[in-house]
Amino acid sequence: MFIVFTPTITTAADDKEKAAAVTEEDGKFFDAEGNPTFKIENGTVDWYTFSGYRRYHSDCHVCHGPDGMGSSYAPALAQSMKNIDYATFLQIVAEGRKNVGGGKENVMPAFGDNKNVYCYLDDLYVYLRARAVEAAPRGRPPKKADKSESAKAQEASCMGG
Ligand code: HEC
Repeated sequence: MFIVFTPTITTAADDKEKAAAVTEEDGKFFDAEGNPTFKIENGTVDWYTFSGYRRYHSDCHVCHGPDGMGSSYAPALAQSMKNIDYATFLQIVAEGRKNVGGGKENVMPAFGDNKNVYCYLDDLYVYLRARAVEAAPRGRPPKKADKSESAKAQEASCMGG
């Protein structure tokens, strides 16, 4: 007789607890698993969350709606990011996705060769993560941390390279 162990697939959605910042490297924050996350204190957002807000509203909001609220064309990322982890996010944005069905074709473009997006993937991720776990309200963050030297250096090498 065989005993079959069925692995438990954990599909626990992201939440404020999981997204809590536990380490910091020069103004960039990471959760307990080492994934990028946001830090919001007394209404002041970390630099990357602010930068992600700006990048999102220049490259994503036309389809995904302001503040990640969604549109008739593309899903509300402020909702779906609850169930999309860091690696999956990077893959979807780099490679794009296509959903053909029900007579309509909705296309998520691939941004893998768009520097205005791929140089800021972590920024976009932490901003949308903050929206999804309801840590960041709608709208432009009123206060932000200064841009760190390492953020400047990373940006210069990515945009210039
Ligand atoms: C031209 C319109 C368009 C633009 C611009 C766009 N997206 Fe999308 N995106 C879509 C569509 C449509 C889907 C759904 C595709 C599918 O169902 O497979 C999608 C899906 C996604 C998903 C998966 C969401 C889910 O619920 O599964 C993520 C994450 C995502 N987009 C991130 C981004 C980011 C970040 C940007 C900006 C850099 C962006 N998108 C810009 C149209 C767009």
